[in-house]
Amino acid sequence: MRGMRQHSAVDKPVDWRSLKKLIPYLLEFRGRIVLALLCLIAAKLASVGLPFILKHIVDQLNADNAIVIVPLALLLAYGVVRFANVLFGELRDTLFGRVTERAMRRIGHRVFQHLHSLDLAYHLNRRTGGVSRDIERGVAGISFLMRFMVFNIVPTFIEIGMIAVLLFWNYSIWFAVIVLVSVAAYVGFSVVATEWRTATVRAMNQAESQSSTRAVDSLLNFETVKYFNNEAFEAARYDDNLAEWEQARCRNRLTLFGLNGGQSLIIACAATAAMVLAAYRVSTGAMSIGDFVLINALMMQIFVPLNFLGFVYREMKGAMANIDAMFALLRVDSSVQDATDAPDLQVDQGEVRFTDVEFHYHADRPILKGISFTVPDRQKVAIVGGSGSGKSTIMKLLFRFYDLNAGQILIDGQDISAVTQDSLRRAISVVPQDTVLFNASIYDNIHYGNVNASREQVWEAIRMAYLDEFIAQLPDGEHTQVGERGLKLSGGEKQRVAIARAILKQPQIMVFDEATSSLDSQSEQRILAAMRRVRGSYTSLVIAHRLSTIVDADQIIVLHQGQIVETGTHDELLSKHGAYAAAWRLQNSDSV
Ligand SMILES: Nc1ncnc2c1ncn2[C@@H]1O[C@H](COP(=O)(O)OP(=O)(O)O)[C@@H](O)[C@H]1O
Ligand SMILES: [Mg+2]
Repeated sequence: MRGMRQHSAVDKPVDWRSLKKLIPYLLEFRGRIVLALLCLIAAKLASVGLPFILKHIVDQLNADNAIVIVPLALLLAYGVVRFANVLFGELRDTLFGRVTERAMRRIGHRVFQHLHSLDLAYHLNRRTGGVSRDIERGVAGISFLMRFMVFNIVPTFIEIGMIAVLLFWNYSIWFAVIVLVSVAAYVGFSVVATEWRTATVRAMNQAESQSSTRAVDSLLNFETVKYFNNEAFEAARYDDNLAEWEQARCRNRLTLFGLNGGQSLIIACAATAAMVLAAYRVSTGAMSIGDFVLINALMMQIFVPLNFLGFVYREMKGAMANIDAMFALLRVDSSVQDATDAPDLQVDQGEVRFTDVEFHYHADRPILKGISFTVPDRQKVAIVGGSGSGKSTIMKLLFRFYDLNAGQILIDGQDISAVTQDSLRRAISVVPQDTVLFNASIYDNIHYGNVNASREQVWEAIRMAYLDEFIAQLPDGEHTQVGERGLKLSGGEKQRVAIARAILKQPQIMVFDEATSSLDSQSEQRILAAMRRVRGSYTSLVIAHRLSTIVDADQIIVLHQGQIVETGTHDELLSKHGAYAAAWRLQNSDSV
């Protein structure tokens, strides 16, 4: 079971169009970009001018009639130009750094926002470790690309062009030919060899991503690992991934050796050819010693950044793949979408109506087979039924985590698929079957239900969920940390935090999905009594396993394998002597 979505982008060839998508993010600081480019040009002028100053110095020193004052001025100029070269380079990086960082921030924010807008099905299928790596690597890729693409590759080629023209102008066409041929050979070889290496680089990245996903998944399931004494099994599985990674790294290094070796050979040949030609021309008197030094300096100057270019090209391809993988996250569309120009849901009564709702997760296994029921405004309707009968699914459909296959869900007469998801979800509070809490304090977790709520409102919710006595017992009180996913609280305490959080939202519709299943009967009754006091203010849909919690419901719906088999009040259903009556008898004889 590989995380298919997040790796597919890396397996595809690099999509250079991602570069175009980056541009809008970069244009936020136009002034800075212009200034950085000016600095770039100034630095390049200085670096090309430097060998020429050097040539004049050497020639002046060589001449017999050397007046000390001339080389001194040239030496000073040399120092100034050299400093200017470095200074403008640094200025350029400083100016452009801000542009890059803003783009990184904007894109990171955009991707995060987008991930939260995706549907539940996507999140159930994804792997958290893989996705967060994709974002991290993508954002780092942007930084790399900007630093090297804009300020290294492009300027290097400009510089090479300038040098070739100067050589041709001042000396012989052969120097220009040597430079251009060797640069072409170098670039050609680098591209071909890098392409040949991509498979191994990709395999390495994939192995890295897989082992990190495995580690995250395993650590998240820490408790389960312990329950089944599977530490050794987990470690062995992780080590399998690491072994794959080790092998991939090894292959990667060997191919890297081939690439670097070839590049060095081309550079050595070019430099030797240029020096041989220069030496010959000095010996024939066509060139001065200063010219020889100039040629030498220029060759060095070309190949130092070019040596870098091989590395940059490789890394840039990697960065592009990473950026593309990140943009691929943005390309995933939510299968639950707002209709165009969808209005907000207007909740007045809070009446919920299901009409002939059909739903399946997989086409060959229907879960809900034509469900129709109504929860009249401000009333309490309960759904009971065996495990797997589709109760939680009904709640998820009402919250529009999925779209229906047939039928409609209406709230106050408005189809929930026609209104904005945001307004729909604002109207509904859910206490889910399995509560997961943030790794923060109890208070913060409850406050999350309505981040604008006052302290008094939070405490009122705490009291209604019967949490105040529990909090009073804690040494750190409301500031007690609940641990990752709330694991430091008991099931019942977690459920009460979830109830308090849902109450704080003050919705028009409340849904409880076996929300009190882990509580003892006494706490459950106290919470129910508290909820009953405010019951007139919202419509509630209660899914319950323990029938005693729903005795007072205005209507009870009995669900069996995705179909409604009985409806009525508690008393009506008892007198029918059907499935509900049987379940009631069973539960009551149990508890005696
Ligand atoms: N995301 C999902 N993908 C596939 N099948 C699912 C998914 N969620 C639930 N199911 C299946 O749908 C059926 C109904 O689930 P659910 O509504 O949670 O039942 P319950 O009545 O116990 O709350 C179960 O058989 C379950 O395996
Ligand atoms: Mg359920």
